[in-house]
Amino acid sequence: MDFKSWSAQRAAHFELCAKKALPPDNRLPWKLHEAMRYAVLDGGKRIRPLLAYAAGELVGAKEEALDHIALSLEYIHSYSLVHDDMPCMDNDTLRRGKLTTHKKYGEAMGMLAGDALQAQAFFELTQTKLPGEQIAMLVKLLAAAAGSAGMCGGQAVDLLSVHQKLDLDTLTLMHRMKTGAMIRASALMGLYGADQMPAASLIGLVAQYADAIGLAFQVIDDILDVTAETAVLGKTAGKDAAEDKPTFVSLLGLEQSRKMAQNEISRALEALQTIEKLSKEYEGKTERLADIANYILSRDH
Ligand code: IPE
Ligand code: IPE
Ligand code: MG
Ligand code: MG
Ligand code: MG
Repeated sequence: MDFKSWSAQRAAHFELCAKKALPPDNRLPWKLHEAMRYAVLDGGKRIRPLLAYAAGELVGAKEEALDHIALSLEYIHSYSLVHDDMPCMDNDTLRRGKLTTHKKYGEAMGMLAGDALQAQAFFELTQTKLPGEQIAMLVKLLAAAAGSAGMCGGQAVDLLSVHQKLDLDTLTLMHRMKTGAMIRASALMGLYGADQMPAASLIGLVAQYADAIGLAFQVIDDILDVTAETAVLGKTAGKDAAEDKPTFVSLLGLEQSRKMAQNEISRALEALQTIEKLSKEYEGKTERLADIANYILSRDH
């Protein structure tokens, strides 16, 4: 199956899982449940679920486990977007081609929908039929990626850096935390979806791959903010410059930023080559992960 069909099929499958797993909007408090469903369903590229499915396929993980893992990742990610869009952060009105959650449901419901999605993410991980020690690892990976050393920490650096010119190292660290951490967790958590613990050598290489695409992902996000149209992006273009955010484009310019993203993708593909040689078990099985890396570079939204 080619990447386009595979990703469309996985995304459609994920959508069905999420529709079933999210609290129904006819259960009290229905407004909150409606806001949670609005924030997650019907939109988004589902990159984090796709990564978990692709990494899981590499080690023969069962779909049942990967579904819970994919849900947990997309819940955290969707919550981070809901809060990122609120007036106290980026103050955006458009997300995934729709009104932002706080615009549609009010700030209090937006905040609570995000909070509740975060809790729901960890609940999902307890629902897999995996051995207890693997569930514990999944919880640990997700908590580390979402918390102050990961996404939340990166968001804090982002907000504290408005109107400042960051040096390249600090900007890179900010991107690795706010976006890279969840991308890394997505790939690693896919590995823990198998019936046994993944090999340490594989974890290291998948982490190398994921760190590289995670950084590239946010660099491309910065580029698209400048080059893409709002209608294609599904979120307001030109927002970073308007808010005077430190981005790769503002520091390095468009051309250098693109080169940097390309370099990161090449590094990711090299890590996959090494995985192929690691064991017969992985031979010919890293194609999906390579496709995702290439997609991150070529995406238009
Ligand atoms: C946007 O993430 C925010 C970043 C971390 C760069 P995505 O580009 O994955 O957003 P969706 O999920 O596809 O809407
Ligand atoms: C947000 O980065 C990353 C998150 C953790 C949500 P941005 O603020 O650049 O994301 P967009 O451009 O609004 O999607
Ligand atoms: Mg932001
Ligand atoms: Mg934003
Ligand atoms: Mg952005």
